[in-house]
Amino acid sequence: MAGHFITFEGIDGSGKSTQARLLADALRAEGRDVVLTREPGGSKGADEIRRLLLEGDPDRWSAETEILLFTAARRDHLERLIEPALAAGKIVICDRFADSTRMYQGLSRGNLRAKVDALHALMIGREPDLTVLIDMDPATGLTRAKGRNGHEERFEDFGVELQAQMRAGFLALAEEFAPRFRLIDGARDMESVARDVMACLREALA
Ligand code: ADP
Ligand code: TYD
Repeated sequence: MAGHFITFEGIDGSGKSTQARLLADALRAEGRDVVLTREPGGSKGADEIRRLLLEGDPDRWSAETEILLFTAARRDHLERLIEPALAAGKIVICDRFADSTRMYQGLSRGNLRAKVDALHALMIGREPDLTVLIDMDPATGLTRAKGRNGHEERFEDFGVELQAQMRAGFLALAEEFAPRFRLIDGARDMESVARDVMACLREALA
């Protein structure tokens, strides 16, 4: 029995973690076997790499080294958690996955998309069955992200301009990989967004 691999993507503060959690709760309440996870991290090794990635000075790593570190973390996460759960027929819900690397490492510090894609093809090679893109205007996203506690230091300096670039990039990615993407307006109350997310899931699981 093959499981279902669902990812949430979008800019910081768009509500991904909130919606991933609400979806996991709703599916569990229906008796589904759900694994809720996130990137970077999600397995012991990947969580160690997460700390290397998110702590320290913004210029601690070059863009190329970041691609390698995010991909190394993802490979461990995939081997240790995601693939075994899918093989056991579970629903895996992951807050960010390879699309985030395509955007953040592929776009934000020059065009490195070809390198991101090459490493993904070599080391990951798996795409989600469904990706929920929560779309949101950059200023609102930034305000929400800043209102949240415990944000890591390396990525917290994202300004509105970069958020806007990432938003446009995600929308383009949704067209590039259209069959697996669903676009949801995140600038509404949590319950309305959650209702739309659940409708996407029903369609995907049908
Ligand atoms: P992300 O994981 O995309 O960065 P979060 O889910 O952590 O976003 O949400 C960022 C902040 O915004 C949190 O404080 C969260 O409680 C709040 N939030 C999430 N969804 C909504 C919403 N629909 N309306 C208002 N606030 C929200
Ligand atoms: P996270 O702590 O999950 O923040 P958020 O809840 O706002 O998504 O992720 C930290 C940062 O890591 C976030 O700003 C996006 C970045 N990131 C990348 O740059 N590349 C990646 O491949 C992933 C998964 C995340």
